[in-house]
Amino acid sequence: MCGIVAYVGHRQAYPIIIKGLKRLEYRGYDSAGIALLNGDLSVYKKKGKVSDLEDSLDPKDLESTIGIGHTRWATHGEPNDLNAHPHYSSNGQLAIIHNGIIENYIALKKELESRGHVFKSQTDSEVFINFIEQIFTDLNCDLEEAVRIALQKVVGAYAIVILDKNAPNQLIAARKGSPMVLGIGDNEFLIASDATPIIEYTKKVVYINDYEIVSIKDGELSIKNINAETTQPYIQELDLRLDAIEKGGFEHFMLKEIFEQPRSIADCLRGRMNAQTGHLVLGGLIEYNNKVMNANRFLFVACGTSWHAALVAEYIFEELTRVPAEVEYASEFRYRNPIVHEGDVIFAISQSGETADTLAAIELAKSKGAMIYGVCNVVGSSIARASHAGSYTHAGPEIGVASTKAFTAQVTVLTMMALLIAEKKGTITAQRFHQLITELENIPAKVERALKSNDYIAELASEYVDSTNALYLGRGVNFPVALEGALKLKEISYIHAEGYPAAEMKHGPIALIDENMPVIFIATRDSGYEKIVSNIQEVKARKGKVIAIVTEGDTLIPTMADHIIEVPDTDELLSPLLNVIPLQLFSYHVAVLRGCNVDQPRNLAKSVTVE
Ligand code: M6R
Repeated sequence: MCGIVAYVGHRQAYPIIIKGLKRLEYRGYDSAGIALLNGDLSVYKKKGKVSDLEDSLDPKDLESTIGIGHTRWATHGEPNDLNAHPHYSSNGQLAIIHNGIIENYIALKKELESRGHVFKSQTDSEVFINFIEQIFTDLNCDLEEAVRIALQKVVGAYAIVILDKNAPNQLIAARKGSPMVLGIGDNEFLIASDATPIIEYTKKVVYINDYEIVSIKDGELSIKNINAETTQPYIQELDLRLDAIEKGGFEHFMLKEIFEQPRSIADCLRGRMNAQTGHLVLGGLIEYNNKVMNANRFLFVACGTSWHAALVAEYIFEELTRVPAEVEYASEFRYRNPIVHEGDVIFAISQSGETADTLAAIELAKSKGAMIYGVCNVVGSSIARASHAGSYTHAGPEIGVASTKAFTAQVTVLTMMALLIAEKKGTITAQRFHQLITELENIPAKVERALKSNDYIAELASEYVDSTNALYLGRGVNFPVALEGALKLKEISYIHAEGYPAAEMKHGPIALIDENMPVIFIATRDSGYEKIVSNIQEVKARKGKVIAIVTEGDTLIPTMADHIIEVPDTDELLSPLLNVIPLQLFSYHVAVLRGCNVDQPRNLAKSVTVE
């Protein structure tokens, strides 16, 4: 969590840093700050959004061609001005921005206090910069060396950038476990948590690796590892358009991203599948083809919405490949002693590619000999790089904290993967294979049709805006869609919501049902249709309010539900790709009507890079 931006070059640093922080605000938004160097090393920081910081400053007073900035998601110490970054070292010579957690900061703090350091904040980051300052003073070395020695002693995760008052053209940065991208322009450098603050100025980037220390001094770049060995930067050309990270006329990023799904699913399929020719290929698979085809078990690790996509995949993989599939919360998996064999293939699913628990689960599975297949959206992300092989979802940047288009893209990639394996293993007939890839190709147009209910859903939302609870029920492959619908509602509207397999309702949740309880059924025509109809009747018998997602033309459920939302007919296995759309729209409109900050819900951050 937290976003960092740094600039050194020939332009004014302040506007570049402020704009960059706004683009990174999805990573954390409880306080923001910048430090600029122009003779003095000046720090400006404030509780609240980047715009609150901006409103408190006058750019005329902020002339400088070097600076660092931070937008925070609090870990150590409540969100307030003092805990906001950047942090000075005790002697005021250094300032740091830090994304991550220093786990041994209490011991370091005690040692530093005994040597006279005084701390103003409750953060581990202030301890970190004082630790560096102490080494810098004790050894009388250069700052890069002091940072290198400090990094050998700190335990935890970090992406840091440091300014030194006495070095007006120098930035020192380092990373372990938290993302960092370096942009290389003409006589200018940018450093950020992701590429979005960088693309306006340069497309040339280097993804900094763990344990690398970046030093930019007087326009010269050098990168060394923690053993002081020089490493050669691998410069890549970014394939990211500026309009992809702007709102494009929508009121919120979330709405834009919901409406982008016909395009993002099509992008995900593009070049990989052609129903006419029967062609289906995933480039990332080639080298590890045998390993995947001969897997004894597929294990999916993920968190949040990506975990829901993995649950959908579990149904699809088992149905099509007939190989056992299991889904694990990465955060649980990593702290057990899980049984993992060499014959297992682990799918790590992550939009950001930076989720700390998923990354740790990968490392654990790797240490037990498993092969890791990453399914990530962010190109060059840590999970993409830690995987043996993988497929990108190509959904484009997802800025809204609530994940929408990433979910449908993940399900699309995983469906293609299951089809590919099934075809190679011969566990699917040619006719069924052709039927499914033809229907998968039709999905973008059908999503477009499902989106046409937007105005109706906005009206419907106004009836439920004051609800305090909601129950989402689905069966089979649509049970994870119920979980996803509930997560969307709770995370952006703060209404308590639960997702359940519809058949489980009788084992407890039915006790909650009364005339105030909205129950959202995923009730499209599939093998569980009759059972869902019975479940709807059970809720109606107890006066619950039923909103049902139904297949276009359904005539039965409209006679019993309070409201219906239609989606186009499709194959049961692909139905989550359509059924999730009205649930995303419903949560969006409820949250907007409740006056919630849809793109930046309270207490959340887009990438959970701490455990
Ligand atoms: O970037 P990831 O897909 O690894 O993120 C996983 C979860 O943190 C994420 O899906 C989270 O649950 C979202 N806020 C859901 O909308």
